[in-house]
Amino acid sequence: MIVAIDGPAGTGKSSTSRAVAQQLGLTYLDTGAQYRAMTWWMVNNGVDVSDPAAIAAVVDKPEIVSGTDPEAPTISVDGVDVSGPIRTPEVTAEVSAVSAVPEVRARITRLQRAIAAGAEGGIVVEGRDIGTAVLPDADLKVFLTASPEARAARRSGELKGSDVHTTREALIKRDAADSSRKTAPLAKAADAVEVDTTDLTLLQVIECVVTLVEEKRATK
Ligand code: DC
Repeated sequence: MIVAIDGPAGTGKSSTSRAVAQQLGLTYLDTGAQYRAMTWWMVNNGVDVSDPAAIAAVVDKPEIVSGTDPEAPTISVDGVDVSGPIRTPEVTAEVSAVSAVPEVRARITRLQRAIAAGAEGGIVVEGRDIGTAVLPDADLKVFLTASPEARAARRSGELKGSDVHTTREALIKRDAADSSRKTAPLAKAADAVEVDTTDLTLLQVIECVVTLVEEKRATK
């Protein structure tokens, strides 16, 4: 059972995907964390992230390892736990530019497909292009949406003390960049189920996706 969950930032993708994986005994992969890890490495190693050729030249250097236990997902680069550093505003500001580079996407897509292929009991993979590009044959594809206001309110709640207006502007800018890039942009797959989470609680979204997975399982 391969479940692809895509959508923009602040729609509840990570919380939903983890909880669904936990409830159904599946593993879990946060692909945004992989792009963030690549970005963190570039910034830390002085690579000019405004230069796609400079990024492409070193794309194979960092060893990025994802732990897929939904109880405690991990992400490391060259053996160093980077789960904290990849969430800084600096990495968040640069991640769209780094993840738009085709060589970055090719490398990370390979990692993602290998992890999904090795997940014996099934996996929930969350991101932007999972249903469209990484795992087009996923058993179930879900596309989560929410109004910009709801997304900004959730994100600024997570980033304690941050201003909702600034968060909203940053989210809109990042979504526009992620949706307009040439290679594997953020998009809903034609066969994805769209769930608008604006007026739903997290528990309701989780329940909805669990039901969709169970329905799919019953017909497999
Ligand atoms: O889900 P997140 O906010 O941690 O993702 C960070 C960035 O990574 C996002 O702005 C775009 C990029 N990303 C991507 O291009 N493709 C994915 N499958 C997941 C994330």
